[in-house]
Amino acid sequence: MPLSTCTTTSMVIPHFTKNPKIGVVGKEEEENLSNECKGLIHSLPKEKGWRTPFIYLFQGFWCQPKEIQAIISFQKHFQARDSDVILATIPKSGTTWIKALTFAIMNRKRFTTSSKNHPLLTSNPHDLVPFFEYKLYANNQIPDLSNLPKPRLFGTHVPFASLQESIKSSSCRIIYVCRNPFDTFISSWHYINKVRPESLPPFPLEEAFNLYCKGVVGFGPFWEHMLGYWKESTERPEKVLFMKYEDMKEDTVSHLKTLANFLGVPFSIEEEEEGMIKDIAKLCSFENLKDLEVNKCGKSIKNFENKHLFRKGAVGDWVNYLSPSMVEQLSKVIEEKLGDSGLKFKVFS
Ligand code: A3P
Repeated sequence: MPLSTCTTTSMVIPHFTKNPKIGVVGKEEEENLSNECKGLIHSLPKEKGWRTPFIYLFQGFWCQPKEIQAIISFQKHFQARDSDVILATIPKSGTTWIKALTFAIMNRKRFTTSSKNHPLLTSNPHDLVPFFEYKLYANNQIPDLSNLPKPRLFGTHVPFASLQESIKSSSCRIIYVCRNPFDTFISSWHYINKVRPESLPPFPLEEAFNLYCKGVVGFGPFWEHMLGYWKESTERPEKVLFMKYEDMKEDTVSHLKTLANFLGVPFSIEEEEEGMIKDIAKLCSFENLKDLEVNKCGKSIKNFENKHLFRKGAVGDWVNYLSPSMVEQLSKVIEEKLGDSGLKFKVFS
């Protein structure tokens, strides 16, 4: 596979030791960080992390030291090409899904959906569309991406404002998937509890919720993440396609057409008549991907089991977890932060 050479990963879960003064300390938090990065981290505002001792406010968004180092390297070294496609999300918004869909659309001539060799049957979508910050620029590496075949597909959680400059100035395309904050929060909370080190107790829902409403969540505040891409998509619709998880769930086929048009590879009438669009939707569906062996047992992002990437894949699951006062609180945050933007969400299926 074109990108299978980029196999080095990060997101190493630190081992924790108890420190009576400040609770839990991540000894490995600073390991493999350059001195420059360590110095920077110490100067940044910090808050309690969801799965690490601390999370830091870097360039206006919250993330972990290893992510910061990788993002700095990405910002320094990545050079976009006009033909590149960048898939952007805040975590737990449908990243895995959009990677699968985009890969299937872009490679449909090489791999038909009925092909027994389709890469999505044997590789997790994160292997086919690598993250800048967790894979390509992680662990102090500077990858040579110049020989990757066109169009190159990349994924990122980095907010629009912090993308490498050439991504913003070139004609490369960005697809952003946004999910309603209620479901994104619940999905994040479940995920974090699955990937937290066993030495840590479960992360209480209320604690996570309070951090989330303050904007303290990986790559958050969520409203700023969404607004950055939302504004750009309204000003430069040919550059940024803004899609919503809930709408994609409701009518995957019409969103696949939108996606293909935006990518400059529209489905032909023949392809549509042959049922290709429906077949791609089926191949990339939650039910299909979740049951594949590669997604049941592998680890495409180091230390993070693929199976945790597939939980329920539903719209509105938050009703099973949030109390009326939590719903009121998060609704207020959404209204206050996004009310004037024109960005609205479906929160029920
Ligand atoms: P839930 O936890 O609500 O089930 P990400 O890929 O950004 O990490 O997002 C993970 C969320 O997307 C999880 O939501 C997961 O179940 C859901 N998901 C994963 N694959 C999907 C697919 N093919 N279609 C729809 N949702 C999917």
